[in-house]
Amino acid sequence: MINIGLIGTGTIGKQHLERLHKDIYTNIAKVIGVYSPNSGPFVAKQFGIKAYSSSEELISSDEINAVIICSADEFHYEQVKLCLKYNKPVLCEKPLSQSLDESLDLIKIEQELGKRLISLGFMRRFDPYYIQLKKSIQNKKFGEMLLIHCKHRTTFPPPNSNPSTNAHVSLVHEFDILRWMTNEEFKSVKVYVPNKSAKAGEKLQDPQFFILKSSTDRLYTIESFLSAGYGYDVQCEIVAEEGTYSMPNQVDLLLSTNLNIGHKLPYDWNERFSQAYDDEIRTWILSLYTSNKTDLANAWDGYLTTYIASKCDESRESGKEVVLNIPSTPQFYLKR
Ligand SMILES: NC(=O)c1ccc[n+]([C@@H]2O[C@H](COP(=O)([O-])OP(=O)(O)OC[C@H]3O[C@@H](n4cnc5c(N)ncnc54)[C@H](O)[C@@H]3O)[C@@H](O)[C@H]2O)c1
Repeated sequence: MINIGLIGTGTIGKQHLERLHKDIYTNIAKVIGVYSPNSGPFVAKQFGIKAYSSSEELISSDEINAVIICSADEFHYEQVKLCLKYNKPVLCEKPLSQSLDESLDLIKIEQELGKRLISLGFMRRFDPYYIQLKKSIQNKKFGEMLLIHCKHRTTFPPPNSNPSTNAHVSLVHEFDILRWMTNEEFKSVKVYVPNKSAKAGEKLQDPQFFILKSSTDRLYTIESFLSAGYGYDVQCEIVAEEGTYSMPNQVDLLLSTNLNIGHKLPYDWNERFSQAYDDEIRTWILSLYTSNKTDLANAWDGYLTTYIASKCDESRESGKEVVLNIPSTPQFYLKR
């Protein structure tokens, strides 16, 4: 039995705590304690588990075998570093860090330890639709893949959003899933800033439009619209030589009422990707028992998504296409 400590009991931290109480985790793992300033003790009481008084107390505890980090972005670096210091496997929600230097520091320490301890919460890799899209690309079912169109629209923007939020907070998921589906790196990005939505508020530049070029000159388009408002709507369409593959919006019951007919859209990431989170966390726990290959994102994947987001900042600010220099994946991070 793996004893897990969870850090950060905000929105996703509580969702993961509830998730880890499902039967699919019985006999393989349980969360035995949490640390979070403010809400930690209250949440610990709700779930009948221990409240630790600091992240270091939790991570260093002999009772804890593995750690899930769901704290706010700016604490991920120091908390992942502590996991490395105390030799604890960690599943950290994205991002690894918003700083490239901090991300590289974690990569350096992990390589010096000679042991892969860091996994990152890029859960789309476990979503059945993305899995099917990846297989369709690899099998060349409709011939060579030529283009990919992604849309990432959300019901509400994250708090304190600014023009960097679209790429750094939201589109890191697109960058990761595109790399994962295509097994290719990007070589350039150009960001377009169309007319701003009146709903975007003062600090957000929303929507934004991104064109990424792959190392083999395929084009990928991404629309990011954080204040779309009407629902959580993530779409992906692959255009190949003889047809297209599109991910449906979440298929639910067909509802007819008040002279309308249609499907309910998910409200947020948890509703849309619930099964993906379950499969991701279960895969992570099982990986702690065996050394089998998994599709979990690692620290290198985390670093690259932050690198690509930083190049998007450069392009948005300069209005120019920006070259990406992505080195080949270090041997240490090639699949187990
Ligand atoms: N994979 C995904 O799809 C996904 C979805 C949502 C959020 N996230 C990531 O999860 C993290 C949390 O997001 P959220 O929406 O739950 O945010 P949130 O603001 O609801 O929760 C953050 C929590 O961190 C706690 N916290 C603050 N300082 C801390 C510290 N030093 N140590 C421990 N905890 C601390 C806060 O008290 C709060 O409870 C973010 O990094 C976010 O990017 C990932």
